[in-house]
Amino acid sequence: MARLQRAFFLFCIPGLLAAVGARETEGQWCKAGHSLSLGISVFPGFEPLDVFGPLEVFYALSYHRNVSLAVIAKEKGLVSSRPPFKTGSKNATNGYENALGPRIEATHSFSEAPVLDVLLVPGGRGTSALEQANDTSVEDFIKSTFGQLDFLLSVCTGAVSLAKAGVLSGRRATTNKSVWKAATNHGKNVTWVPTARWVEDGNIWTSSGVSAGIDMTYAFLRRLYGDGDEILKSVMNEIEYAPHTKADWDPFSVVHKVPGANTMASLADSTTPVGYDENS
Ligand SMILES: *[C@@H]1O[C@H](CO)[C@@H](O)[C@H](O)[C@H]1NC(C)=O
Ligand SMILES: *[C@@H]1O[C@H](CO)[C@@H](O)[C@H](O)[C@H]1NC(C)=O
Ligand SMILES: *[C@@H]1O[C@H](CO)[C@@H](O)[C@H](O)[C@H]1NC(C)=O
Ligand SMILES: *[C@@H]1O[C@H](CO)[C@@H](O)[C@H](O)[C@H]1NC(C)=O
Ligand SMILES: *[C@@H]1O[C@H](CO)[C@@H](O)[C@H](O)[C@H]1NC(C)=O
Repeated sequence: MARLQRAFFLFCIPGLLAAVGARETEGQWCKAGHSLSLGISVFPGFEPLDVFGPLEVFYALSYHRNVSLAVIAKEKGLVSSRPPFKTGSKNATNGYENALGPRIEATHSFSEAPVLDVLLVPGGRGTSALEQANDTSVEDFIKSTFGQLDFLLSVCTGAVSLAKAGVLSGRRATTNKSVWKAATNHGKNVTWVPTARWVEDGNIWTSSGVSAGIDMTYAFLRRLYGDGDEILKSVMNEIEYAPHTKADWDPFSVVHKVPGANTMASLADSTTPVGYDENS
């Protein structure tokens, strides 16, 4: 235990200061008992793994660290992964009748969301349904809450909502490679990074499509708690996931022919279990 405590102070503080500069008090995230208040915004047609991938990591972490969760939507209650309608359809036909619709329960509406340290914004096919319906609730929530957050994270086309909220202006970001052109059409003065598993710019982290959110979450928590954090390492091994640890590893930018993608980039990646080398 003492060794662990010492490790926190050795590793947590420098990583933390590098990450958040003056925004955070020293060592705050690493102290036993310090809580992390996580919010996840959802909307009809959210991509399941965009939510549940990062959530699995926070969930596993919550057995060891004080993490609270608010699932936030326009209204409290169940929210389906099936979009309300297919973008471009001119009538009431859903167009996605055969799509599965697993649901998550929103615990809070946007107007009654608790104070958050971290907000995670997923994407999914419903992002364009929101746009077609002129529904700005997600981006309005981001806009109003951003100033109070320590960190804002997006997965996949969640970055479209961030761009529309204006918070990516002057920043680097990435998004879903399979819908790159349409997604990057949003926002002003955003430097969209074509080859990136995830991008960190100040207190905003954006990831590429779907599964990339898990890798970003691991990289983010490493920044928060420090490289040497034993709890985080064991959490990743508990969930038996070997994260991609290079932010610029992105073969999907080539698969999806993203303009400007680095086609010469190596596909070599580091995906051994966290801490494997040291412990073997
Ligand atoms: C977790 O954090 C919350 C909010 O700060 C606090 O009310 C609660 O007592 C903490 N729980 C534990 C087990 O530390
Ligand atoms: C509604 O739109 C879908 C395609 O979006 C089309 O297949 C269907 O025939 C339309 N239904 C009616 C009643 O117009
Ligand atoms: C993003 O990419 C994934 C996989 O490439 C896809 O399943 C998903 O629907 C895409 N679109 C949006 C709008 O998120
Ligand atoms: C959304 O806004 C556009 C432009 O103002 C308008 O043409 C369209 O009818 C609106 N759509 C809905 C569903 O309200
Ligand atoms: C656009 O962003 C860059 C940083 O990427 C910044 O230097 C520049 O001032 C911004 N321009 C405008 C018009 O906001």
